[in-house]
Amino acid sequence: MKIFIDTANIKEIKEAVALGLIDGVTTNPTLIAKENMVAEELLREICALFSGPVSAEVVSLEAEAMIREAEKLSRLAKNIVIKIPLVKEGLKAVRALSTEGIRTNVTLCFSVSQALLAAKAGADYISPFVGRIDDISYEGMDLIRQIKQVYSNYDFKTQIIVASVRNPLHVVEAARIGADIATVPFAVIEQLIKHPLTDLGVARFLEDYKKIPKK
Ligand code: E4P
Repeated sequence: MKIFIDTANIKEIKEAVALGLIDGVTTNPTLIAKENMVAEELLREICALFSGPVSAEVVSLEAEAMIREAEKLSRLAKNIVIKIPLVKEGLKAVRALSTEGIRTNVTLCFSVSQALLAAKAGADYISPFVGRIDDISYEGMDLIRQIKQVYSNYDFKTQIIVASVRNPLHVVEAARIGADIATVPFAVIEQLIKHPLTDLGVARFLEDYKKIPKK
């Protein structure tokens, strides 16, 4: 499973890239707003950090305007992928952009029917938001299972990005289901690495190492 980092923070992206485990970056207007930088400059800087896909979201609401915005964003760097919200106008834009060869990540997906239509429109990626579904007392990961089944029934090439990830279990479950990608906040990447028994084991081995006679 590929792991993307879900942030627009340069320091976090640099640190994650240095780990050697990051395959892409996803941003959204909320994440970009936290960085206090002009969006285009920030995105250009992120795209220069590595060659994997970097998702940047449009804010227009009509297909024509979304397409113009997407074309402008995609000129920022070769690795930009355009995030388009899963609304009627968005699906029209995805269809047009896919024929232009501009890659799209259809975002704010909360149902199988939406995911099916995004794939039919030619989306490269679909982003179902599992955490926000959990937040309203439904099982977010069930949606991933169902989308996975529908996509494999018809051999759709659209890749499933498990988004709105809130904890390590979301990532583990995504991998068990066979999702293509999980986009993970930096704090959760750190949680994925940590285990108290590992830390305890390292400390104990170091203590015991001191007891070994040295030459
Ligand atoms: C990523 O593509 C999404 O924008 C992001 O995962 C949303 O996460 P949130 O629900 O924690 O805001």
